[in-house]
Amino acid sequence: MFTTQRQTIIEFLCAQAAIALKNAQLYEQAQQALRDLQKAQLQIVQSEKMSALGSLLSGVAHEINNPLGFIAGNVSMAQDNLTDLLEHLELYEENTAAEEIEDHAEDIDLEYLREDFPKILKSMNVGVEQMKNISTSLRIFSRKDQEHKTKFNIHDGIESTLVILKHRTKANHKRPAIEIIKEYAELPEIKCFPGQLNQVFMNILANAIDAFEEANVGKTYAEIEKKPNQINISTTNVDENEVKIEIEDNGSGMKPETKERIFEQGFTTKGVGKGTGLGMAIAHQIITEKHGGEITCDSTVGEGTILRIILPIV
Ligand SMILES: Nc1ncnc2c1ncn2[C@@H]1O[C@H](COP(=O)(O)OP(=O)(O)OP(=O)(O)O)[C@@H](O)[C@H]1O
Ligand SMILES: [Mg+2]
Repeated sequence: MFTTQRQTIIEFLCAQAAIALKNAQLYEQAQQALRDLQKAQLQIVQSEKMSALGSLLSGVAHEINNPLGFIAGNVSMAQDNLTDLLEHLELYEENTAAEEIEDHAEDIDLEYLREDFPKILKSMNVGVEQMKNISTSLRIFSRKDQEHKTKFNIHDGIESTLVILKHRTKANHKRPAIEIIKEYAELPEIKCFPGQLNQVFMNILANAIDAFEEANVGKTYAEIEKKPNQINISTTNVDENEVKIEIEDNGSGMKPETKERIFEQGFTTKGVGKGTGLGMAIAHQIITEKHGGEITCDSTVGEGTILRIILPIV
């Protein structure tokens, strides 16, 4: 009697324990599933963001190229034509002394025109060169990644990203232009997914620019000019296997508890609509999982932040 009662209790407890265990297992599984989902979400967001932006940019670059080539060709032809015209004009002047022509020349300030017109064409040429540069950068930045890694000059990646971000780094009415100081080492091309690395550079640089906005609050133009917003980008050849990229800003910096969570998916200190908290999580995933590298962060409130990336060369 006593033993059967005991038996029942033990059985009951066992069943309870089994249920608890099962629950724990299920819980563990659910947690793992959640982690997998979050990772997948990050990958989707990353590739969606990238392919949407990438195809937009390369589309724009492509569309710009035709008219650009057209203008470039015409400007250089106009320069040749103008030289001929000016020569011809000189002959006229030497061989005619009609008053009407002389009056008109004065009216239109021919002397000035003669000097200025070639300059106008020259500056149009400079503009065309700049646009070609932008178009090339757009194409480098939005490189579509193949399934396999390709060799890539990461300086090209950084440079093209800076061109894309130009509208955010140039001077505005609140502050002078953000100074970009570069110390590039002689680096070999590295085997990587260029489009993804460009996205990492973009996410880091965008954060630095955001950090300046925060640091500049309450400061006058003159105050900022005295201690300018600066981004230092340096690359180092660590050894034959690795390269190092450091991106440092002297913006707002981070409190230790923010720094701890910087790579956490969805963690943001920015207002709604300003930050999604994905930039650094995506960067972390791209550097560590896709490239077998490392990304770390150092920061001091009020002083600035440095992001260090180590990437294997092959
Ligand atoms: N250079 C930096 N200076 C100061 N704080 C930074 C810097 N980089 C990141 N942070 C902090 O880390 C948080 C997470 O950065 P992350 O790029 O992942 O997200 P976000 O910039 O808030 O949003 P998203 O990049 O998705 O638009 C930021 O909200 C900010 O608090
Ligand atoms: Mg960000």
